[in-house]
Amino acid sequence: MKLNIALLAGDGIGPEVIDQAVKVSNAIAKKFNHQINWVKALTGAAAIDAVGDPYPEETHQICLNADAILFGAIGDPRYDNDPSAKVRPEQGLLKMRKKLGLFANVRPTFVFPSLLNKSPLKKDIIEGTDLVFLRELTGGIYFGERGRLDNGETAYDTCTYTRSEVKRIAEKGFNLAMKRSKKLCCVDKANVLESSRLWRETVQSMEKDYPEVTVSYEFVDAVAMRLVQWPKSYDVLITENLFGDILTDEASVISGSMGLMPSASVGLETSLYEPIHGSYPQAAGKDIANPLATILSAAMMFEDAFKLKEEAKLIRDVVNLSLEQLIVTEDLSEGKKSFSTSEVGSWLSNEILK
Ligand code: IPM
Ligand code: MN
Repeated sequence: MKLNIALLAGDGIGPEVIDQAVKVSNAIAKKFNHQINWVKALTGAAAIDAVGDPYPEETHQICLNADAILFGAIGDPRYDNDPSAKVRPEQGLLKMRKKLGLFANVRPTFVFPSLLNKSPLKKDIIEGTDLVFLRELTGGIYFGERGRLDNGETAYDTCTYTRSEVKRIAEKGFNLAMKRSKKLCCVDKANVLESSRLWRETVQSMEKDYPEVTVSYEFVDAVAMRLVQWPKSYDVLITENLFGDILTDEASVISGSMGLMPSASVGLETSLYEPIHGSYPQAAGKDIANPLATILSAAMMFEDAFKLKEEAKLIRDVVNLSLEQLIVTEDLSEGKKSFSTSEVGSWLSNEILK
């Protein structure tokens, strides 16, 4: 099969972890006889430095012409402490999501048997956790009207959703629930927010089309608590953009390291695969960052975008093997010998080709 993949390394540790995902994907291609055509493009601070725009039109065209997009991370401390910066790397990510229509962000949380002791949560609480957040990604407060009034003394951001925006993410949620344990949780703040009441009303009106799915409606503050108290009680959760951003960071703690969880952002035309962690600038260039979240994002890409299940499974299998054999970066090595980012990538590629 010919796979045409846009490669957006981005900032910070992005290029290093992306390199490992490329190594692993190339090993898969060699083993299963696929031809991957990687097309590199600029995003984030790297793109601001080069052309003054964190998501240049050229990058957009490359993404549109690709079968799938593999993405590293965006963010640079040069912009974080400068509230007056006119352009910011993160704007590139938001522009990319919006222009590519990537409305459904699929963020799984699961545990690796060999890492149960790595989580700050007790083993019996997290053992067996396997849930998926569907975070709405192109609406809500991220994209609503915002601004300043009163000579800059007042600021506002607005959260807006249309019924059709809620419907299309909820449809994905119901369909995913049908493929899993037929349980769907709609996370909102309907006791306070009008936009949440629209979410709840819309999801409720869809229940009759999915009679086998049991839907629960929970407030976001309660979910934040229950997620770490009883994560096993959840399966598929749907939620709006900002709640999803916050809860998925919280959920990543369950697996033991931020460097482990992959994600997919699915749109009408294309889909993008990226680790849920950020650009971790403190580690950039040091060859120490955990590449597994990006490598597992590549596995999601093989499975979802190209329907190559066996290839995806092999990636997951060798990742599990590396964890069992402690071929891991320093975030997981527990004071024992740790391996560099590139060593982990090379070890996995070699295992694939064995
Ligand atoms: C994420 C990130 C982004 C977000 C930032 C970098 C804009 O935190 O993908 O979760 O808030 O969506
Ligand atoms: Mn986030």
